This record gives sequence, structure tokens and C-alpha cells, in this order.
Amino acid sequence: MTLTLFPDGVENPANLAKLDDAARLLGATCSQQIDGRLIAVENTDRAREIYGRRPLRERATLAVGNERRGLSTRTLARANEILVIPTQSRTVRTLNVAAAAAVAGWYVLRGSGPQARARRPDVRRPALLIVGTDHVEVGSTLRSAAAFGFRDVLLDDRGAGWFEGTGATRREAMAAARRHKNPLRVHRATLADLERFDEVLVALESGKTVPLQQSRLARGRRQLVVVGLRADEVHGLAAADIQVASLELAPVQKPPLRLVASITLAEIARQVGRRRRGPAGTQARPPTFAAAVKLRSPEDVLFVDPSRLLSY
Ligand SMILES: C[S@@+](CC[C@H](N)C(=O)[O-])C[C@H]1O[C@@H](n2cnc3c(N)ncnc32)[C@H](O)[C@@H]1O
Repeated sequence: MTLTLFPDGVENPANLAKLDDAARLLGATCSQQIDGRLIAVENTDRAREIYGRRPLRERATLAVGNERRGLSTRTLARANEILVIPTQSRTVRTLNVAAAAAVAGWYVLRGSGPQARARRPDVRRPALLIVGTDHVEVGSTLRSAAAFGFRDVLLDDRGAGWFEGTGATRREAMAAARRHKNPLRVHRATLADLERFDEVLVALESGKTVPLQQSRLARGRRQLVVVGLRADEVHGLAAADIQVASLELAPVQKPPLRLVASITLAEIARQVGRRRRGPAGTQARPPTFAAAVKLRSPEDVLFVDPSRLLSY
């Protein structure tokens, strides 16, 4: 069984480089040749969900499309199947193309159970801490977080620069609010904030520990999921209850944050689930982030217009 990634009209060289990284992490190769079963990855109405699929047992090619236009009609017509990564945002319905390839490849290779159904998915969603050093990698990760339904994230900004120029960002947020957009709230954080949570789960790209799919990722806001931490940093962490989960990817030097984080976020979204409708009037409001987790000063919150994340 071999897996090929086929970038169909992907234009941005940086995205092509990240697709190469995704292929290496998945033990796949990038090619313009279609080998075996053609699986189109696209958010069209005709697509089946990536969740709940059996593991791949044959040679296959995953096609991902152009940053603006998506997959060509030719590729869609030739495909043996079309898969969509379900999202939960009205504004951000797509992931960065390399992030989408990593998520699709990870689920196609392993298979998974279906996405959970829950009366109140928002109550089950854990808090998320992104540790990032690169502006674009953090941007693509924020895009994925918004797409998968997060409204608040914590960011340990280690030089990625998201908290620079906050005046401009605040003006942008006010403009977004006037346009009735729900901003993504990015809270400045450090590893010292781990102490605020009852449970901490660190997701690592590889290593012999509990596989991510066997870890419980829907424990609500007292649980913190950390992405972007190096394996050698885990031992020094001070928190009540720290678990480590592995995505079981091929060990590579410096795996891009957007790929590891997007797979983790997709699995959180599968376990947290989507809304199962109850009898009318029974939908309680989810707890607000501030009420669940006491954060620092309001100065350390960045409001990001979700539509701005589409450029990552
Ligand atoms: C950024 S998307 C752009 C095109 C997209 N059709 C749109 O609606 O804007 C680029 C590529 O990433 C992949 N992709 C991104 N998000 C996806 C999702 N939620 N489900 C499936 N594929 C996705 C697809 O291969 C898509 O062609």
C-alpha cells in the first residue's frame, strides 16, 4: 500500500513545500502522477466525510486543489471518491491546502470512527494552547482552529509576532464586529498557564506513547490540549496531570506546526462532535471562556477577523 499526494494546480511555492513535508510525515510522496485509487479531497456537496472511513488497504492518490479555485473539474470527474473535512464555521470552511492534505492523509491511512454527536459540543471542547515560532505556521493553525469551531485559543508566541501591532489588530476587530463577524480571540499565554488546568494533554508528532485517537480529547474547558511543544520540553512541565499523545507520524526534523496542529484539531473535532438536536428549549449556553479559565489582562487578548485567516 503506497500513498501519493497530488497537488492539482497548487500555486504557492510555500504551500508546495509544506505538501512535501506532509508527504514525508505520512510516509507518502508528492507527484503529478496518479497512482492507484484517486481520492479527491474537496469541500463539495457531493463529498463524503473523512471521518468514519475504513483504513486504506490499496495504492491510492490524494488530490488537493488550488488555493482559490480548489480541484479542477477534470480531477473531480476522474475521482473514485471525494472526501470533505467537516468544518464548523460559517466564515472559515477550508483549511490551508497542505494542512488539508495532512488531515486527509492521516485519516485515510488509519481510518476512524464517525464524528460524535452531542447535545452540547461546545461544553466538550477542550482549551487549546498553540506554541509557535513562525508567523505563517501560527496563522495556518489559527485558520484550522477557527474552521473547527474554536472561538478562543491560547498562544505562546515565541517570536511568531502575532501580538505585535495590536492597535491595528484591534481596529480590525472592531471593523469585523461592525460587520457582525465573530472574531477569534487569541489569548497571550506561556507554559506557566498550564497550572490553570486540571488536565493537560500534549500532542506530539511522533514517539512511543498513547496514540492520539486513543486519547480523550473532549473533556471540556478544564482540559488543555497543547500543540507545537518539542518532545524535550515535556519533562520540565509543571501541571497537575500531564498526558502525552502521539500522532504516530514519521519522525522528521522540524515538522511544520500547521500540519501537526491541524491533525490534532481534526481529531478533537471528531471526538467533540457536532450538535445533536434535543427537544426545543433545552439548549443551554456553553460556558464562556473567561468564566471557565481565569486569564490575564484584557490587553493580552487579540481579536482576529476570521476572514483574515483565509490568506494563511
Ligand atoms: C483553500 S482550499 C480552496 C478551494 C475551496 N474549494 C474553497 O471553497 O475556497 C484548497 C484545497 O485544500 C483542500 N481543502 C481545504 N479545506 C478542505 C476541506 N474542509 N475539505 C476538503 N478539502 C479541503 C482542497 O483540496 C482544496 O482544493
